[in-house]
Amino acid sequence: MAGQIDDIKARVDIVDLVSEYIRLKQTGTNWRALCPFHNEKSPSFMVSRDKQIWHCFGCNEGGDIFTFVQKMDNIEFPEALRLLAQKAGVKLIDQDPKMSSQRNRLMDSLVLTTKFWHQNLVEAAAGQKARDYLAKRGVSEKMIEEFKLGYAPDSWDNLIKFLKSQKYSDQEIFLAGLSVKKDRGIDFYDRFRDRLMFPINDFHGNPIGFSGRTLKADEVGGKYINTPQTLVYNKSLAIFNLDKAKQEIKKKNYAILVEGQMDVLAVFAAGYENVIASSGTALSLDQLKILKRYTNNLAISFDTDAAGQSAAKRGIDLALGEEVNVKVIVVPGGKDPDECIRHNINDWHSAVKNAKSIMEYYFDETFKKYDLKQVEGKKAAAKILLTAISKLGNKIEQTHWLQQLSEAINVPVDILRESLNQGEAKPAAPSNVGVKLKVAQPRSLNEMMAEQILAIGLKYPDNLPYIIDNLPVDLITDESLKQLYKQLIVYYTKNISGEINSFNYPEFSIQLKADNFSQLADKLVLLAEKDFFDFEPQVVGVELIKIVTSLKRAYYQSQLKDIEQRIKQEEKNKQSGEIENLNDEFNKIISQLQNLE
Ligand code: UTP
Ligand code: MN
Repeated sequence: MAGQIDDIKARVDIVDLVSEYIRLKQTGTNWRALCPFHNEKSPSFMVSRDKQIWHCFGCNEGGDIFTFVQKMDNIEFPEALRLLAQKAGVKLIDQDPKMSSQRNRLMDSLVLTTKFWHQNLVEAAAGQKARDYLAKRGVSEKMIEEFKLGYAPDSWDNLIKFLKSQKYSDQEIFLAGLSVKKDRGIDFYDRFRDRLMFPINDFHGNPIGFSGRTLKADEVGGKYINTPQTLVYNKSLAIFNLDKAKQEIKKKNYAILVEGQMDVLAVFAAGYENVIASSGTALSLDQLKILKRYTNNLAISFDTDAAGQSAAKRGIDLALGEEVNVKVIVVPGGKDPDECIRHNINDWHSAVKNAKSIMEYYFDETFKKYDLKQVEGKKAAAKILLTAISKLGNKIEQTHWLQQLSEAINVPVDILRESLNQGEAKPAAPSNVGVKLKVAQPRSLNEMMAEQILAIGLKYPDNLPYIIDNLPVDLITDESLKQLYKQLIVYYTKNISGEINSFNYPEFSIQLKADNFSQLADKLVLLAEKDFFDFEPQVVGVELIKIVTSLKRAYYQSQLKDIEQRIKQEEKNKQSGEIENLNDEFNKIISQLQNLE
């Protein structure tokens, strides 16, 4: 097992891995980002390629590739192992039954099912019907491969039989969402029958569920049926095609959101790989939060009258509240993107090129509808547009659109603003995205300053003599930092006093007693790289003196408070001898403080 873990660590680079989840920006030798684990406005989340670690200096979480995917995907170690082994191309030797969790077996069964249905579609005689259907709708073989489309035959137990031959139980197949329980009794039958199957992947590209389109003309039993909620499939988290789209979304810095799977296929094939769908429902807050890891820009395509429909509108309102810029791709003739592209691909290209900002779109639509010369028209238009403006998360943007409205209907901005404020602002719905955001724990000032001092010492060892001469060990209150500092002093005294240039961080790190100390040291070096990466060495030296002085001042002042308390206490107890000692101590600390200034 340990060998396999090392293999995986050697093959999966932490920077590549983390940037599959969030937008990283290079600073010096490291990468930084807004922390995905707590809310923050300026980035304190760091990733180091040298050390293959990540750490957030805001919420103090950190670790390696394994802990990162566990926290991000909210999964246990065996599942992280499965995922990373796959990325590394390492085949897991499955000796340990604990390593094969229920969730892993479920995911494996979905992979097998995807392959099974795909083979059915491309090879089996029964798949001819589905092949014809796809050909008729203009879906190429390349797309069929790319999206691993499949065909679920017209049978009650075709898939169940197959999965049982692969040693899956009835219960497991049921819990994967692939079968349905018969009304009474213990029997099961295939959920998807005679349907064209679209695998729905998580953003790593692993199937987590399916959407199946009927091939029957009368659409009996529903045009589409989907996997129900399972251990791995949650429709308000899943985003269709995010796995294939995410790189392109980051590169182009926007995503195209469409309503259906067929639309995704058509738009993708037309050369827009940054296309996703939320499977017929409005974009949920959780989906938005996931999307925001990659971009703040969303171009939504729906047919013109759908704009007024509440489902689509709810998604847009949420996006605006999250300060996501929303544009509308208006497809001519009330078609969906798939129909538009097949009808005339140039219409689609120009619709994308001419996408309007959502507010522009609302304004245009509303002004078309009402006569702004009439007071009734003004009132109606203002009502609609003020509602839209109130949803904007940004005050500057609100003001901009209030001015536009004011000019159009010839009503002063202040009056419009008054009616705006009367509308109630709804608080955002709680999110249940896998990642649990937490509030950063407040840490003591002493600990933060000690961290910075040691960080400077380790990263810029020229400063070690100053630190050791000026900072007594006992002034550090955090026990781990204090121990690390002691070991640093020992190492320094033994090996390098006098020839400070030979401070060798890797050597120091290796000889540290206890593994977690070298982790702590790595984290501190990363901290120095975060805070001082663009500083001149002399400036770092100046900063260091300031921090050491502040730490000492704060330390002595808290000592003084402490002694004052004790003196008061002893006065009550009438212990005059003890009071004298305390007074001596008090005076000593006062003179220490005076030395600092
Ligand atoms: P549409 O009804 O717009 O279908 O539903 P479509 O995507 O254009 O499909 P085609 O072109 O007729 O084949 C949009 C999406 O809503 C979901 C599906 O994800 C579909 O792609 N949907 C629709 C369902 O989940 N169930 C349904 O019964 C219908
Ligand atoms: Mn369609």
